Amino acid sequence: MATIKGFIFDLDGVIVDTAKFHFKAWHRLAQDLGVNFTEAENEQLKGVSRKESLEKILEWGNISLEAQEFEERMAQKNEWYLDFVREMGQEEALPGAKEFLAESQKLNLAIGLGSASKNAALILDLLEVTPLFQTIIDGTKVSNSKPNPEVFLKGAEALNLAPESLVVFEDSIAGIEAANRGGFRSVGIGNKTILKDAEIVVSGLLRTAGTQNFMKVLNPYLALAMALWAKEQILKKTTAELAYKVAT
Ligand code: BG6
Ligand code: MG
Repeated sequence: MATIKGFIFDLDGVIVDTAKFHFKAWHRLAQDLGVNFTEAENEQLKGVSRKESLEKILEWGNISLEAQEFEERMAQKNEWYLDFVREMGQEEALPGAKEFLAESQKLNLAIGLGSASKNAALILDLLEVTPLFQTIIDGTKVSNSKPNPEVFLKGAEALNLAPESLVVFEDSIAGIEAANRGGFRSVGIGNKTILKDAEIVVSGLLRTAGTQNFMKVLNPYLALAMALWAKEQILKKTTAELAYKVAT
């Protein structure tokens, strides 16, 4: 099995909690069109481009739109989505994500972004994590939406690494399928039942016993390095807790 040399991260729902904003904006637009969709159906919209998401909603409602209205509706959804994004702060970074990125960099792993979003650059800037990425492949750079593996294959090419030496972190069904089809290792972020095709599923990038396990499966050397980092964190926490206890 190839040694892990780098990570490719999806953005929405992996690094930042924007999946809920996409859902709210689409839900509002769908209601405007008289279509109702559930959180379960929303799983099918995750990882999928703006255009294909609207196509799915129209299909659910058995609606067809003229080209101009289609464009207007997409622009409207994006405006609503950006209203949420403009309000968001650093706290919308998902727990542990920024630390995980920083730690990956310390381990000299290649780091790439593989997202369907055309707003990815803006969001990475807002989170102040752009410099951590050696390559950013987003919705402005691909013509095929996940589950097509194009976004990750372009990332692998830019990083000059083989897919089997890269781990894709994904919260969407379409994204896990894309990673698997492209020959990447895959870590699902979220629910085991929903992301059943991922090699491993964890609830998030926050350092936990679970994440140490997934590192072990992916690469023993990496697991050791990550575990040492976790230990240091635990020690820091204990020291802080002790200091608190002494002080009170
Ligand atoms: C993906 C999201 O990351 O990006 C989808 O999971 C979204 O929900 C897609 O539709 C496209 O995003 P944007 O920002 O270009 O509309
Ligand atoms: Mg996602």
